[in-house]
Parts: sequence; structure tokens; C-alpha cells
Amino acid sequence: MKITIAIDGFSSTGKSTIAKMLAEKLEYVYIDTGAMYRAVTLFAIRIGAIDDSKQLDTPLLESQLDAINLRFERNGDTGKADMILNGENVEREIRTMAVSTKVSIVSELAAVREKLVAEQRRMGADKGVVMDGRDIGTVVFPDAELKIFMTASASARAHRRYKELLDRGDDVNYDEILKNVQERDYIDSHREHSPLKQAEDAVPFDNSHMGLEDQFERIYSLAQDRIGG
Ligand code: DC
Repeated sequence: MKITIAIDGFSSTGKSTIAKMLAEKLEYVYIDTGAMYRAVTLFAIRIGAIDDSKQLDTPLLESQLDAINLRFERNGDTGKADMILNGENVEREIRTMAVSTKVSIVSELAAVREKLVAEQRRMGADKGVVMDGRDIGTVVFPDAELKIFMTASASARAHRRYKELLDRGDDVNYDEILKNVQERDYIDSHREHSPLKQAEDAVPFDNSHMGLEDQFERIYSLAQDRIGG
């Protein structure tokens, strides 16, 4: 039996790393819904609907939502799924601070969420999917057979993000990253539409002090239980 696995939680908790490992091991499809919100944010920047003052031109973005086409494409070099926005590979650009600092604002918009939730439901319609995000277990797939809610302290997450960007060769500042993590936590969990919250039937998972292998083993064993049952 194939199941749906929802992995939600705060930013930089390592959701995507675990979700990818799980999808690979189970031969399931992995869907990074954060990449979809990031791609819409990049699109909004490009059409001038949001800039560094972070004022969102809602009518402009809403009027252009139908012009956004998103898909994932397997990258032959990395073996990972890259985000394709209107035919262009934007995988790298959607991870920059320019996008990270605006994505929470864009993802607050109900029309954006409606569009992306509908696409996510289509992508996961056949089950056999591991989807990570903020509202997968609460809104996108409330019937998911396994729901994980990942948390970790803000400083543990900022350190991970800092190292990730540094390894990529970006010019980064730790305090700025910590501030961004805290700001996004606040906006993500206080927004009007689909705020980040733990689904009642989700398994809470704090990985501030847990290695990757350990996390994977525990979550994989939960998945096996649910698949077996
Ligand atoms: O997982 P991430 O950090 O790449 O996500 C980027 C932003 O997208 C995050 O700050 C909140 C938003 N998001 C969301 O609102 N709902 C989701 N299902 C996934 C991400």
C-alpha cells in the first residue's frame, strides 16, 4: 500500500533533507512545497509586485497568477528535482536572501495559497508521495497516513542555514540569518490563512540535538508501520 507522508514544521528544521531521504528509500515522489512559494515570490519580484520595502502590490500579483507555470524537473547532475518557473530553471535563484526575505509575505496571500494547494493536491493525488511544507498535514492532505511536525531551536536552525549558504559560496551574515529565521517563524505561525501549526494527529519531532541518521531511522520506522498497517 502506498501512503501520503506530510512533513511540516518551522523553516530550516531539515524537513527537506529527511523528506528526500525518505522518498528515495521508499521510491516515492518528493515534493518541496516551499520551492513553489519561493518561485511565486521570485515571479512577484520580477514583475515588480514586491521589492526590498516588502510592500506587496496584491492586485498586480493576483492579476498575474495564471501566468505562473511551475513544475519540478530532475537534474541529471545532482539527481535532485529542480524548480522550473515558466520554463526556466530557477533552483538557485529561489534560495537567495532576496527571495527568503519576501517569501513569507507572498505566501500570506489567499489567492497564492489556493493556487498552490490545488497544484499540490494534483501532484499527490496518487499517493506514494512525501511532501514537505507548513500546511501539508493540516490543509493540503489532512488525511495523510503519516504526519511529522519538525521543530528545532532558532539558533540551531540559523547555524544550519548559515553553513549551507556558506558552503554554497554565498556572502552571508549569521545575525541576518537568525533574524530572518525568527521573522519567518513569526509570520508563518501568525498569518490569517493556513498558519503553521501542528496537526492534532502529527508526530512532534524536535531535532535540535539529533543527528541525521538517527532522525531518519526513527521516521522511516514510523513510515514502515503506517505502510504495513
Ligand atoms: O520550506 P521553505 O523555507 O523553503 O519555505 C519558504 C517559505 O514558504 C516559508 O517561509 C513559508 C512558505 N511556505 C508556506 O507558506 N507553505 C508551505 N506549504 C511551504 C512553504
